[in-house]
Amino acid sequence: MALSDFIADLDSLATDAESAFAKATASDALEAARVEFLGAKGGRLKAIQKGMGQVEKGDKPAAGQKLNAVKKAIEEAFELAKSRLAETASAAGGTDDPFDPTLPGHPLRLGRLHPITQTIERMKEIMGRLGFTAVEGPEIEDDWHNFEALNIPLSHPARDPLDNFYLTSSPAAEAASPLLLRSQTSTVQIRVMEQVLANAVAGEAAPSVRIVSLGRVYRPDTADATHYPMFHQIEGLLIDRGVTMADLKSVLRMFCQSYYHTDDRGAGVAEVPADDVQIRFRPSFFPFTEPSVEVDINWQGGWMEIGGAGMVDPNVLRAVGYDPEEVTGFAFGMGVERIAMRQHNITDIRDLYTNDARFLAQF
Ligand code: DAH
Repeated sequence: MALSDFIADLDSLATDAESAFAKATASDALEAARVEFLGAKGGRLKAIQKGMGQVEKGDKPAAGQKLNAVKKAIEEAFELAKSRLAETASAAGGTDDPFDPTLPGHPLRLGRLHPITQTIERMKEIMGRLGFTAVEGPEIEDDWHNFEALNIPLSHPARDPLDNFYLTSSPAAEAASPLLLRSQTSTVQIRVMEQVLANAVAGEAAPSVRIVSLGRVYRPDTADATHYPMFHQIEGLLIDRGVTMADLKSVLRMFCQSYYHTDDRGAGVAEVPADDVQIRFRPSFFPFTEPSVEVDINWQGGWMEIGGAGMVDPNVLRAVGYDPEEVTGFAFGMGVERIAMRQHNITDIRDLYTNDARFLAQF
């Protein structure tokens, strides 16, 4: 094969390749042209290269040089076309890949609030609408706030060391002022009343109180499906002139109706109209209320106990410095886990605290 023919073939190949690259308006067309000219197997440049064997021996160096120069030129033309396409694509605001907006996106796994936190937030919100401010109290408490001021005498079984997490093992220290992990949120009643009375102006009418407190309480129970050594309570307290048990019942009924019926945002629990949610009181006893009641709510055809309540015992009012002749009040306490578990059909309280994301992601 004459060198001139070999060179002519290469030159016309270069012209063809450059015009094919220049014509390509999409990346798949450009890629097809690249394969046609530069493809390692069956590419047209490769085919011409194979013809080198027929070139006269003395012409081979010149043929090789020309081959390399043309190869380089074609590769450069390809790169040029490629960047031209990329520029047009980004000017058009995207790639030229066919984009199908109907395909599902990449799933984004969002975090979420723990079901107990969700329950607490919802309870706070509802009680907030009824005018109750959410307050917090310490989880390490003293004897006065956990028992004494709540009218729980020294002899009361609720003080049993086996039923409480006392924080000191020294009998002397315990006798003086034992500290413990609070066993109930009723402690916050005392703290709030003490505080508002400390801030009250002497000679003026006694201050009113309208609070809820939601938080952790601790009891040394062996963990099983319905017990856990730590759980949450919602505590409510209202103190004012002329408060009666009718107020207590109304507030609890409104709370339950708001909590349990499904609202416009679908935030409710049961598919029932608010008017169908009823509560009932059963006589009971708590040292810090008189009279005391257990509160039930109608639930799936039966009655479900949701907590305790009552009129604040005059002894409690006196302990913090209120005059029981001047003000009265009501208090209530409910277990948050129990309500959340019934709501979500959770059958084992321990599932709430094992931090299994597969379980928690359901709520
Ligand atoms: N503190 C009680 C408990 O832990 C619950 C309770 C009952 C709270 C009656 C109250 C109440 O405020 O009035 O079992």
